[in-house]
Amino acid sequence: MQKPSALATRVAVYPGSFDPVHNGHIDIIERGCPIFDEVVVAVLNNTSKNPLFSTEERVEILQEVLADQPHCRVESFSGLLVDFMSEIGARTIVRGLRAVSDFEAEFQMALMNRRLDPRVETVFLTPKEEYSYLSSRLTKEVFLLGGDLEGLVPKEVLERMRERVKRPQE
Ligand code: PNS
Repeated sequence: MQKPSALATRVAVYPGSFDPVHNGHIDIIERGCPIFDEVVVAVLNNTSKNPLFSTEERVEILQEVLADQPHCRVESFSGLLVDFMSEIGARTIVRGLRAVSDFEAEFQMALMNRRLDPRVETVFLTPKEEYSYLSSRLTKEVFLLGGDLEGLVPKEVLERMRERVKRPQE
């Protein structure tokens, strides 16, 4: 039997920096998986942002955390998201909307991506309310200052953060 092309299946891309991935991201991925045939979590290979974890580490962490999600794979990408999507035959971008404050930047990105490639659509999913204030930036800050991240990031992330970062009380 002929294998269906990627475009015949509903492949969505969930792009982000994921430095680190937190439970709000995981919640969005879990919500996206039943909607699409496959969700490709796309880790931006951003050299300029001075990340806590390298791109390879972020991919590895996501692979560990998502090991039990059969319709999900993790890749990294550089350059334009729409070019990466074209390479893998995906036309849908999934993004999380936590609050109204996210809207403006997300709206601009969605329209720019559609301008760059008119075949591309962005769909927005909302995370559980308990994650609506969560961001990678805040998790890093709280961790560095000795705060408790239990229940906010996957255990794989917490373990690696503990290995990586010396905190004031330790
Ligand atoms: O987790 P983030 O940092 O909010 O993710 C932002 C991301 C990776 C989705 C965005 O920066 C992106 O798509 N970068 C790739 C470069 C690109 O295509 N820029 C034009 C998009 S409008």
